Amino acid sequence: MKALKITRYGDINTSLAFGEASVPIPGTGEVLIRIHAASINPIDLMVMRGDMKAVKKLDLPVGIGRDLSGVVVSVGGGVTAYQPGDEVFARVGEDHVGTLSHFLSVDASHLARKPKNLTHEEAASIPLVSLTSYQALIQVAGLKKGERVLIHAGSGGIGSVAVQLAKAYGAYVITTTSSANVEWVRELGADQVIDYKKENYLDLLSDIDVVYDTLGGQYTLDAFKVLKRGGRVVSISGVLDPQTAREFGIGWLLRKLLRLKARSVMKAAKEKTALYRMVIMEANGSQLEELGSLCRDNIISPVIDKIYPFEQSLEALSYLETGRAKGKVIVSMGESANA
Ligand SMILES: NC(=O)c1ccc[n+]([C@@H]2O[C@H](COP(=O)([O-])OP(=O)(O)OC[C@H]3O[C@@H](n4cnc5c(N)ncnc54)[C@H](OP(=O)(O)O)[C@@H]3O)[C@@H](O)[C@H]2O)c1
Repeated sequence: MKALKITRYGDINTSLAFGEASVPIPGTGEVLIRIHAASINPIDLMVMRGDMKAVKKLDLPVGIGRDLSGVVVSVGGGVTAYQPGDEVFARVGEDHVGTLSHFLSVDASHLARKPKNLTHEEAASIPLVSLTSYQALIQVAGLKKGERVLIHAGSGGIGSVAVQLAKAYGAYVITTTSSANVEWVRELGADQVIDYKKENYLDLLSDIDVVYDTLGGQYTLDAFKVLKRGGRVVSISGVLDPQTAREFGIGWLLRKLLRLKARSVMKAAKEKTALYRMVIMEANGSQLEELGSLCRDNIISPVIDKIYPFEQSLEALSYLETGRAKGKVIVSMGESANA
């Protein structure tokens, strides 16, 4: 079988190589999947570039890709929930990364049944972005019916699912995007779409209950300018708050440095008696099962920008790297799913 691997830290053209490997044998609690489609995410590029080295140094070469949709080939000891032939999808755990591959053994607890109304390409677009947004908006921010939520970058992989999820939970959804994306983002269900090329959201918004900060940098600090007193800012791109750093098992020295970096954000949160949390998403099969049922009921629909054949994975990653994707970028195994 063929797999794309990160062979050294660096950029797309120098770090990645296709290689031949033997089909893995699933261990206890694992399931072997024949992958039909994978989706790629900014984290894949960050790991490739070595941006996460301080948190976790990898023993290269390693696989790349965290989202998959495919069919169960065989199961390891102790797995009773799945059997050969089942169609599944997943955001695989960090110990099983490598979905840009023909086959992958994954932890059974990270799998969910693929919604039958979705193609493999559509299903592969869902796991990482929907789990992240569920964990940020629902689990951490506790978004409630009728609350006003600002979701930055409604046209991105994350934003396009987050808008739909927040609507499903009954929120009033405000989102930002550039002029070319305004209309289709509105069609996803957003109540208010701000064209950031023409308007400054800081002039338009106040008293927001929840800000979902998908952009980081100045956007994290500015979130508190539009937030109501006692509101919540959940970030997936901002600075690590002390609680999340502790929960993530980051060593004390790095935690100390991060605490300094987060100082102005934590101060802004305190001044608004607000919650600030950085969310680092985790693979979770049972949450994905629930998100899959929202897809089955057409409450969440996949938003796919481009589909690339497996052989063009580098082109797919280069497109994602432009930061201009409209929804998700998919890699399809197509015919090679039968390799
Ligand atoms: N912490 C976690 O666990 C976690 C999990 C998933 C993702 N993330 C992070 O979340 C971020 C978003 O991920 P993604 O998958 O959505 O990335 P993406 O798909 O690459 O995002 C691209 C989108 O961002 C929009 N955008 C860029 N600048 C913007 C701005 N100033 N205002 C509004 N929209 C803007 C672009 O729209 P326009 O072309 O219209 O500008 C484009 O549609 C990444 O930084 C990623 O690393 C973190």
